[in-house]
Amino acid sequence: MIRAGIYGVSGYAGFELFRLLRRHPAVALIFAASESGAGSSMAQLFPVTEDFPIISFADAPLDQVDVVFLALPHGVSATVARQALAAGVRVIDLSADFRLKDPGVYARWYKEEHPAPDLLEEAVYGLTEWNRPAIRSARLIANPGCYPTATLLALLPLTRAGAIGPGLIIVDAKSGVSGAGRKPSLTTHFVEVDENLSPYNIGRAHRHLPEIEQILHAFNGALGPLVFSPQLLPVARGILATIYVPLASGWTEGMVRDLLVESYGPEPFVKVLPPGTLATLRHSVGTNLCVLSVTGVPEAGLVILTASIDNLIKGAAGQAVQNLNVMFGLEETAGLL
Ligand SMILES: NC(=O)c1ccc[n+]([C@@H]2O[C@H](COP(=O)([O-])OP(=O)(O)OC[C@H]3O[C@@H](n4cnc5c(N)ncnc54)[C@H](OP(=O)(O)O)[C@@H]3O)[C@@H](O)[C@H]2O)c1
Repeated sequence: MIRAGIYGVSGYAGFELFRLLRRHPAVALIFAASESGAGSSMAQLFPVTEDFPIISFADAPLDQVDVVFLALPHGVSATVARQALAAGVRVIDLSADFRLKDPGVYARWYKEEHPAPDLLEEAVYGLTEWNRPAIRSARLIANPGCYPTATLLALLPLTRAGAIGPGLIIVDAKSGVSGAGRKPSLTTHFVEVDENLSPYNIGRAHRHLPEIEQILHAFNGALGPLVFSPQLLPVARGILATIYVPLASGWTEGMVRDLLVESYGPEPFVKVLPPGTLATLRHSVGTNLCVLSVTGVPEAGLVILTASIDNLIKGAAGQAVQNLNVMFGLEETAGLL
């Protein structure tokens, strides 16, 4: 059995990790840690779950685990990651701390100096379907953000194949409110969210933009700028990204769909829908799936890709467990179906 620990178990992503790891056939959950929850138990924090003690970070037995998951805010994660790595423990970090390779870019977008720039080089971006060889041997995984997961899974096959023409790529992405974490704020207040749809950080202002562009540009440095407009949907969970992509000369809707099918054919967690069927939130919520659909607009020379994921599963805890499976040579679907 792989011995695992969770930091930040009192949050939404931490709870989802707890749920997945407790039913994982090859993982023994050794500890679940939260500073505010220390001394209480999972059933006290989440009344409908099985019980499990919650301990403080200081009491986490790093000498008894093979891997830890960090479901913590950026800035906090890096410090815990350093402690775990020093104890010989592999780390899967769900925060943004190790996703951006350039500490200057991190400082610009996250408004603080990077807490562990010396660890950035070895961190491996954990977009599982696109990075398995590096994930297999990694000590430190930067689990992708939720919006980047949906956007990149849709765009990377086209980027790699040279199917994207000159012009703007527009990502219009809607997320359920759990994407903002469990701590309430005015913008996530029920009265603000219910029966409403609110754009935020639209254009080129959201922190996930540099993460998406960093990966796209690694495949094609000549791609034009992305416009990325997130919106808050009045549902608990799920992301639907609608992505407008200018096509390179000669490319058609059918060719793009064939490309996606060919790219993801054997993948257990990426599904491409047939012509005429559009991905919706319901296709993915509650699962580790990313569901993709393609609509051509030949008059405008573009295709519209639609990508649906559950932000807490494929966009966070599920992909983290998928990465654990790859890191430890387990069946990639273990604990996730
Ligand atoms: N929600 C999503 O859809 C999603 C998707 C992908 C990635 N992520 C990333 O995953 C991480 C967790 O997100 P979340 O949505 O689960 O957030 P959350 O619900 O707000 O939970 C945050 C967790 O971090 C702990 N924490 C907060 N401040 C802390 C501090 N100063 N020191 C120690 N622990 C602290 C909280 O514990 P206490 O109860 O002790 O405060 C809680 O367990 C974030 O980095 C987020 O960006 C989230």
